[in-house]
Amino acid sequence: MTDAIDNPATKAPVGPYESLRDYIDAIDGCGQALHISGLDQDAYEATGFMYRLIDKLGWADAPAVIFKNIKINGQWHEGPVIANQYGRWQFEGLAFGVDPANDEQSEVYQNVLAKLESLATTDKQWQEIEPIEVSPEDAPCKQVVVLGDDINILDFPFIQTNPADGGSYINTGSVILEDPERGRNVGTYRCQIKGPRKIAINPEKNQHGWTFLMDMKARGETSAKAAIVLGADPVTFAMSSSKTTRLGQDELFVAGGFIGKALDVVQCETNTIKVPANVEMVIEGEIPFDFEPEGPFGEMYGYIGEHKEENFYMHVTAVTHRKKPIFVNQFTGVTRSFLTSPMEVTTNLAMKKLFPNIVGIHLPLQTPGYCFISIKKETPGDAITIGRNITTSLKIAKIAIVVDEDVNIHNAIEVMHAVGARWQPYPASEIIEKAGAMGGDPSAPTRGVGSRIVVDATRQLPEEGGPKQYSLMNRACLTKEFPDIFEFIDEKWSETIDSWNPKK
Ligand SMILES: Cc1cc2nc3c(=O)[nH]c(=O)nc-3n(C[C@H](O)[C@H](O)[C@H](O)COP(=O)(O)O)c2cc1C
Repeated sequence: MTDAIDNPATKAPVGPYESLRDYIDAIDGCGQALHISGLDQDAYEATGFMYRLIDKLGWADAPAVIFKNIKINGQWHEGPVIANQYGRWQFEGLAFGVDPANDEQSEVYQNVLAKLESLATTDKQWQEIEPIEVSPEDAPCKQVVVLGDDINILDFPFIQTNPADGGSYINTGSVILEDPERGRNVGTYRCQIKGPRKIAINPEKNQHGWTFLMDMKARGETSAKAAIVLGADPVTFAMSSSKTTRLGQDELFVAGGFIGKALDVVQCETNTIKVPANVEMVIEGEIPFDFEPEGPFGEMYGYIGEHKEENFYMHVTAVTHRKKPIFVNQFTGVTRSFLTSPMEVTTNLAMKKLFPNIVGIHLPLQTPGYCFISIKKETPGDAITIGRNITTSLKIAKIAIVVDEDVNIHNAIEVMHAVGARWQPYPASEIIEKAGAMGGDPSAPTRGVGSRIVVDATRQLPEEGGPKQYSLMNRACLTKEFPDIFEFIDEKWSETIDSWNPKK
């Protein structure tokens, strides 16, 4: 473990962590993991449980869940199967070595963003550290090696999450591809289980993984070697799950940069791909360049996606794993699925290069489709120009809401408050009739194509059609008259306020 410090509030070591299990232990050490057993997934009990957990506690407060065992197709499987391990923002603090003792979730997250931003090089790139190859004896993911006809993926607790899904899925696998020209790519794509030794691989069109495979096909190759890594450490999983890296940039190098230490990698059994050695399981195989149907699957917007006709698939050639592997199921559309801070800082750095008056950009994953942008408005029209640029370059930003810098974009209620108070739908909006859309957006008339809106919820200047004199906020009047009001209240009343917890 690198850079570990003792977290006085929790007694759990703060990361970065070298493995998923170290991270889960730390969450558990903070009392933020709920252990339960005996869930019957043939009755969709785990799915129903996760919905209820979030309904009752909310995404920001719900703990991680460790299912000790689970019934699938009439058989009890020993897990553990982990869920919601990236839900709370305090978990981002743990993973990136920022003490999450402070209870205020958005503050923890903002501290993580500040720390990551400080790690960028002077030209706003991420540090890279080359992985180090270790021998199979030193690789935990090789404790058990299963080859050829002995492989049966159905032996493991991969579940069907929704009754309408096309089947059971491995839905947190990082698919690793290597190309002599482009290098290595690591991307999280869902994999439908099609048989004991056959799984689907689902990079959407234009994902880096899709480009890698289609380039190999165009060069006349007939198949690609691949490895799917399950249970990677939280930082590597974040690299695999987001556009923190550019096409051709190696996610494992950048993960090492964030962790501050080279990742250990080990060569696969049936091909020459090198995979992180500390993961829970590796599924090796070969992807032929013809397509098969896949799906449907309950996607991240919370709607069942379409049955896809054109999907890659893989013949499994080896499975290697730790002696008692832990599994992760993503309850897609219910819980947050990865650590988002590296992606957020990457987006901020790239967009601030174009528009230095951007303060921050936040994509609230729990409500996909929204993008909250805060700016220091300098000239009339700034908000619409910036919003238009962001909404047309980030597919997930269907509704771009631009606010002034005094609004906390990590607090959706504050953003909605600004929209309600500061926004006039006319003229402070712009509709873009046709742009790219996320696959899985149930409102898109054609998969991948949709429209956008920019909502300018900044205080409108008179030149923008706003009032001649903008009203002061009540709170601003209070602090103007009584600048020390909150210090005074905190000193006298914080204990009373902090000790009040209606959930106790
Ligand atoms: C749990 C999870 C499942 C995902 N499933 C898919 C998927 O099935 N297909 C896809 O194209 N992207 C999926 N994504 C998003 C990609 O992982 C993400 O866009 C990533 O940047 C893709 O890697 P690439 O840029 O190297 O192609 C998923 C992300 C997460 C966190």
